[in-house]
Amino acid sequence: MPRTALISGITGQDGSYLAELLLNKGYEVHGLVRRASSLNTQRLDSIYRDPHDAGPPLVLHYCDLSDASSLGNLIRAVQPDEIYHLGAQSHVKVSFDLPEYTADVTGVGTVRMLEAIRASGARARFYQASSSEMFGSTPPPQNEGTPFHPRSPYGVSKVFAYWAAVNYREAYDVYAVNGILFNHESPRRGETFVSRKITRAVARIRAGLQDKLYLGNLEAKRDWGYAPEYVEAMWQMLQRPDPDDYVVATGECHTVREFAELAFECVGIDWRDFVEIDPRYYRASEVDVLMGDASKASRILGWQPHTCFQDLVQIMVDSDVKLLDDELSGRLVRADRGRSYMPGD
Ligand code: NAP
Ligand code: GDD
Repeated sequence: MPRTALISGITGQDGSYLAELLLNKGYEVHGLVRRASSLNTQRLDSIYRDPHDAGPPLVLHYCDLSDASSLGNLIRAVQPDEIYHLGAQSHVKVSFDLPEYTADVTGVGTVRMLEAIRASGARARFYQASSSEMFGSTPPPQNEGTPFHPRSPYGVSKVFAYWAAVNYREAYDVYAVNGILFNHESPRRGETFVSRKITRAVARIRAGLQDKLYLGNLEAKRDWGYAPEYVEAMWQMLQRPDPDDYVVATGECHTVREFAELAFECVGIDWRDFVEIDPRYYRASEVDVLMGDASKASRILGWQPHTCFQDLVQIMVDSDVKLLDDELSGRLVRADRGRSYMPGD
């Protein structure tokens, strides 16, 4: 029997890479998709299978983290062996504008998942997508023993969700792990996170379609890794005999300024001619430095990062340059499958 995995946030950056990884490992993969007025399944294009065709078993279900009954019904129906809970309102700046919504989806949504597991009696292993944002203003290097001091409604919600996972492990013997992941990026990164905002702008400026890139705090430092390597760590965590919490990071940090400088350098443009500061992108309270110590993940999981900062920036710039060239030349046509991805639409 193939193992069955359920992924919340399957339409996001990490969810799409994780779905690919699990399908390649022979899992039956189920994904939770929230209803949107336009298609939100683009990142799954490469692994989509028409339900009428034979192929890798990927099944999508309408469900929402704000709707406890839909979560309960889904977990009872799918009876997954592993649940990867990646769904969240994941944008830190947006969380200052939508604090209550972020607490509901990112924080309480995790409790709804855990309650659904408990109520269903399923023996599913549970992965919680915890975040380095929980460390906030605590100085680096940050590891599993570092105290939390979150600096945004998003960070506060993730701390709540982290402790919910620990509590269900201790109180109800749920196999729950926290993966405390530092920033990880890729060509599939959402367009409003700073890395992708920069690499898209580089491609557009190179093509003469944009003449300025407005950014906020250039001095913030982040520990930036490559997303496909980070989803491998998620899977490894759920394969251990006992549940535990792990930091996943590269151990190196760079400023936003360095990211921008390097990204423009990749296409031979001087970033100073195009980047301007717009205080609208400043945060009410900022996280100045994140730099993780992933020695526990290395020791116990055997996990190591392989893509360095310079290569990550190059991968993202190359991808956005190609994407734009393909769009401009008309080579990029999103195949119209004539049907929705979702059952019953
Ligand atoms: P992402 O690209 O923003 O994806 C978030 C996912 O959550 C999307 O699939 C989104 O659906 C879904 N979602 C949002 N609200 C929902 C709701 N009410 N009900 C159901 N699904 C909902 O995030 P990511 O970068 O892949 O990150 C995955 C997880 O890891 C998140 O929990 C994030 O907070 C956490 N994390 C990320 C990083 C990082 O650097 N990437 C680091 C640490 C932790 P739509 O596609 O419809 O928007
Ligand atoms: N988004 C954005 N846009 N950030 C900017 C900009 C801008 O125009 N200008 C400067 N920044 C700075 C932010 O102030 C922050 O210090 C840094 O760039 C990184 O911002 P984001 O890319 O938005 O990511 P984040 O670090 O706030 O949050 C991401 O990483 C967390 C893990 O540490 C998200 O993926 C979270 O979901 C994740 O938990």
